[in-house]
Amino acid sequence: MADIGSNPLPLPDGIVPEDEVTRTEDRWLTVVLSMLGFMMAVIVVTGATHALHPPSNVETIDPTALHLGGEFAESNLGTAAEPDGSVTVRMIAEQYSFVPNCSQVPADTPVKFRITSPDVIHGFLLPATNVNTMVVPGFVAEVRTTFSRPGIYDMPCNEFCSYGHHGMWAQVKVVPKDQFPDLSPVERTSCAKQ
Ligand code: CUA
Repeated sequence: MADIGSNPLPLPDGIVPEDEVTRTEDRWLTVVLSMLGFMMAVIVVTGATHALHPPSNVETIDPTALHLGGEFAESNLGTAAEPDGSVTVRMIAEQYSFVPNCSQVPADTPVKFRITSPDVIHGFLLPATNVNTMVVPGFVAEVRTTFSRPGIYDMPCNEFCSYGHHGMWAQVKVVPKDQFPDLSPVERTSCAKQ
């Protein structure tokens, strides 16, 4: 009688021994779990270091009454200086424009964008920054950023919002921090030459 435990009989062609199958499966399991762990770590680290904003600001507003008063009345739109030195930009995204069409903000200063929509879903994106959010009617989208240097950021609507979507865009103009206080309220909410 052959000693099966220590010296197994040769298996037929094409049949892989069970312990080798187990080893291979364990190796692949390790590879898959490491990839999963690595990808989760990338998401967590970039989220923390680049201040990415998941759409988490659940703040509701009546989209049919924006023009009647309150925070998003026409006179409140544009860039407002806050007592703590930061600025807040309030905007409405509507078919097919952003109001105001251009906002001026200071560099090296915390900037908070608050945007809402009276009609359909739009998107607000400043290329090469952490600013990227959907603008959903009934909700106020809020994103915070700090621009490190002056420049002009083109701001395309990045959520398909019907026929005029491709022409819906605006600008954010970042001016040197020391020039911002000299701008009048009208200049802050427009990029036209005064
Ligand atoms: Cu608004 Cu696309």
